[in-house]
Amino acid sequence: MAPVPESESQFSSEVYPPSEAMRARAHLPSMEAYRALYDRSVREPEAFWEEQALTQLDWFHPFSKVREYDFEWGQVQWFLNGRLNACHNCVDRHASQRGTQTALIWESDTPGEGRSVDYRELQREVCRLANVLRHHGIRKGDRVAIYMPMILEAVYAMLACARIGAVHNVVFAGFSAESLRDRINDARCKAVITADEGIRGGKIIPLKRTVDEAVMACPTVKFVFVAQRTGNKIPFYPQRDVWLRPAMDAERPFCPIEHVDAEDTLFLLYTSGSTGKPKGVAHTTAGYLLHAALSHRYVFDYQPGDVYACVADIGWITGHSYVVYGPLCNGATTVLFESVPTFPDAGRYWEMVERLGITQFYTSPTAIRAVAREGDEFVKRHDRSSLRILGSVGEPINPEAWKWYHTQVGEGRCPVVDTWWQTETGGIMISPMPGATPLKPGSATFPFFGVEPVVLDEQGREIEGNGVTGLLAIRNPWPGMARTIQNDHQRFVETYLRPFMGYYITGDGCRRDEDGYYWITGRVDDVINVSGHRMGTAEVESALVTHPGCAEAAVVGFPHDIKGQGIFAYVILNAGWEEGQELIGELKNEVRHHIGPFATPDLILIAPGLPKTRSGKIMRRILRKIASEDYGELGDITTLADPTVVEALIEKRKSIR
Ligand code: PRX
Repeated sequence: MAPVPESESQFSSEVYPPSEAMRARAHLPSMEAYRALYDRSVREPEAFWEEQALTQLDWFHPFSKVREYDFEWGQVQWFLNGRLNACHNCVDRHASQRGTQTALIWESDTPGEGRSVDYRELQREVCRLANVLRHHGIRKGDRVAIYMPMILEAVYAMLACARIGAVHNVVFAGFSAESLRDRINDARCKAVITADEGIRGGKIIPLKRTVDEAVMACPTVKFVFVAQRTGNKIPFYPQRDVWLRPAMDAERPFCPIEHVDAEDTLFLLYTSGSTGKPKGVAHTTAGYLLHAALSHRYVFDYQPGDVYACVADIGWITGHSYVVYGPLCNGATTVLFESVPTFPDAGRYWEMVERLGITQFYTSPTAIRAVAREGDEFVKRHDRSSLRILGSVGEPINPEAWKWYHTQVGEGRCPVVDTWWQTETGGIMISPMPGATPLKPGSATFPFFGVEPVVLDEQGREIEGNGVTGLLAIRNPWPGMARTIQNDHQRFVETYLRPFMGYYITGDGCRRDEDGYYWITGRVDDVINVSGHRMGTAEVESALVTHPGCAEAAVVGFPHDIKGQGIFAYVILNAGWEEGQELIGELKNEVRHHIGPFATPDLILIAPGLPKTRSGKIMRRILRKIASEDYGELGDITTLADPTVVEALIEKRKSIR
């Protein structure tokens, strides 16, 4: 995919400087303040990170060395020989210092039916759950899958694992039984923590049933712990299943804390790559936690007394770093949002902002576009004067959506922090600082501390200077960087570090404009970003070809008004299969069944053939253009084995919506 957008007009030239009010209270009140700290973080990384590690985190045993790395072999270590515990840093130290402060506000699917827990209660609940795990044989290093709705127990479960040194593997509760099974087996999980059912936007999601189906083929799973969300009747197998609440109530609210090594794995989180098999990205304890906490503090300008809300699901990295670990490590009050942006209506976010007095609000461009199209009335109806900072993550934010968010939601008062990062980076990598950075709508602006972005050409040479475009890479390691891929270190090295020696390769294209601002232009590999959910086209293709009628499939992204990118599938049928709505429905179902509803193709084109080179390689560039209804410059098609197929595909494309 071209790393550069087709037209330069996509890059807005307007600049929004921070307001005086914002500067007056921000941690970083000017660009000079940002630059001074940033420069130090890259010029003297060891001194900078040592200082941050000692001031932001509690240690049981001091580290002896700040970092050690070798990109060639993918060895990255931070804070060597230090011992600490993420749960202690996120819970215990706050329970003793600010025990009655609200830690979590659970915002239930039904507005107003949620509840809050303070740091002391959080500590008791996490300890009880940790004891339940220990009494079922879960020990340090064991893996535990978490397949949960956005309820308090989901956060207790993550922190309980961290407390005893177990490694959590959260699987988004929208994934199918098959996807869940693969993630449990790849990580060799000993237990699964789930709930009877989930509720989102008033709809019931049968989680326990999905777990039952998955676990049938998971020989390592000994126990399934079940929280109750709806209380509806569900299948229960007493030899394997454990009701979580009574088990927790039977435990003491104290639990010894494991002193883990800085480099012990905190969690695995599966994400999509350009091949069919999802990658179990491994994050370790100290570096990850420090990066999450420090970025939360600066990017959201977190101050005591704030009510901070990131509405991401804990099934994705954003939920890990900015619902749970970052804010709790900073002793913040963080919101856990169970619902969807349009339930009961498109004013849900702003009604919640008003009712809870939210100060920072962090969501995705998709959600912004989905509520913006319902009209400004839904925003204006609610008092948003508590808001100070607005955040965006997951995909490029188009300037129109940015401006709507800034003007309508933030009344022009609140800076929009467009944060670029990835599952593998652990925390925010490129983002404005709210009191310092003059904003440009659609640009993630400048790097976070310790992050050295570079723009590479296709041969992997650094392109110096401003006003340049290319591949976004990062020079040198940063603390929150992923350390490996579960069971496949080779893939880790080859995907991220070996394409061009000395750099971490992001897979994104970017432009560094005349003023040095970074603009992320989207993936340059076969990964698509649908509603901020990252998906490998190969995964969707593998799901499609399991349908007996599908001989071959090629999947690409295409521009979608709300989702950013939609999923477009070209399908070649086996002999004897007839094209028709029923078949299209079956093909879509195949994807829902294998991956999950969020991966359902938006459009399926039954193709007479695919544009292939004489050596049999599919020309995806052409497929992307046709899917995008961009028939202008298809490039040289004379090298195709059958150039007439292009005309046929264009004709068909014109007939489907
Ligand atoms: O393409 C970039 C896009 O999302 C990808 C990472 O996806 P994932 O690992 O699921 O993490 C999403 C949440 C951090 C990136 O490679 N992306 C993420 N944030 C932005 C973005 N693209 C443009 N602007 C962003 N702010």
